[in-house]
Amino acid sequence: MIESFTDQRVLPSKLQHLVLFTHNLEGTSQWYQDIFNVQFSAKNHPDSSAAMRLLKQTMHFYSFGYYHHDLAFAYRPDVKPDQSSMLYYSMIVRTSSGLDILKDNLVKNKIPYNKGRVLASALTDQYSSAIHFKDPINNFWIEILQGESITPRHFRISNNNDLKNINSKSNARPSHAAPESMNGVAAMLKRKWFREMLLLPVTLVGKRTRNKTKDYGVLRNSTCILSSIEQMTFFVMDLSQSTNWLEVMGFQLSRICPAEPHPFIQGHSLRCAYFNLKEHLECVILIEHRNDKGQLVAPSIKDVFHCAFELDGAELKDTFSFFKQKQQLGIKHYYGPVKHNDVAPHGDGESGGNVAIYYYMPDFHHIEFFTEMDNVDTSNIKSH
Ligand SMILES: [Fe+2]
Repeated sequence: MIESFTDQRVLPSKLQHLVLFTHNLEGTSQWYQDIFNVQFSAKNHPDSSAAMRLLKQTMHFYSFGYYHHDLAFAYRPDVKPDQSSMLYYSMIVRTSSGLDILKDNLVKNKIPYNKGRVLASALTDQYSSAIHFKDPINNFWIEILQGESITPRHFRISNNNDLKNINSKSNARPSHAAPESMNGVAAMLKRKWFREMLLLPVTLVGKRTRNKTKDYGVLRNSTCILSSIEQMTFFVMDLSQSTNWLEVMGFQLSRICPAEPHPFIQGHSLRCAYFNLKEHLECVILIEHRNDKGQLVAPSIKDVFHCAFELDGAELKDTFSFFKQKQQLGIKHYYGPVKHNDVAPHGDGESGGNVAIYYYMPDFHHIEFFTEMDNVDTSNIKSH
């Protein structure tokens, strides 16, 4: 049971991790290790994790050296990335030597890169260098920035608590979208006997070779050249509808830009809205994409399994308070709150230790808010 809630409004403070879909998990894993020196922190596969077995999904988690995971890839047979959920995502290298190592790695792997930022409207002043290139396996555009994440100087949270027009444009629900709510499942996954029952057949036939709760750890002295996820983009059908949703969830609209040319498709245009979090300047960009006839291009949700934001407060009770505060506003969640380990009463058997709750944005982009992810300073970290 939760012993206490906070009455203060709990806000998301920063963008922290991304989980992307791939149809080539092994190839993608190798490429990211080769290019960025990311370190493995967990493998969750259907035979070792109850939730993954339910979703028929396999995940590889990577750490940049502090959090249990910063980036993860998910293989799910029925979801193939189509580069229509996001335009690109950005990550930070903190040092110029890290950027030099990256450029060497790109050359060695025959990956061409462009100098500068992807979007003409994106800020450049706070970064000393920017390059972008394509992940050759999934065709995701990746932007690498050298610098530090910036805290917005004037963060004023909107008092917008009215969820308007969320269903004003009923986009067709993507065929692979999960059910409206998995909360019945969440409650069951918190019971050890249920997780063991789900995994019993593969345990009995000896197929289950790994207890995934023992296969992770965040290493000190990481050689990863990345320090953090810096920016995430989402294609949306309606900027005002999604802006409204983000404001209610605690994001601050920084600016909406005039239409600009699509950087990769001639004749297409983009209109971007940039959002701040309390400790993270312009970390989210919503984008309306129009084709050469001026028609809106519908987004998919096939590239991104979910995108996660760390909450202020950093304790289990803060995730539960956030959940309660949003529930009072009538905002439906999809899964959680749960803790991603196997410790009762909130553990769902997953990895990372984060106390997480999941929602869908208006176009069904899947969003996580969390506290308490395991990190190198957490006493329960296990080494490889
Ligand atoms: Fe997550």
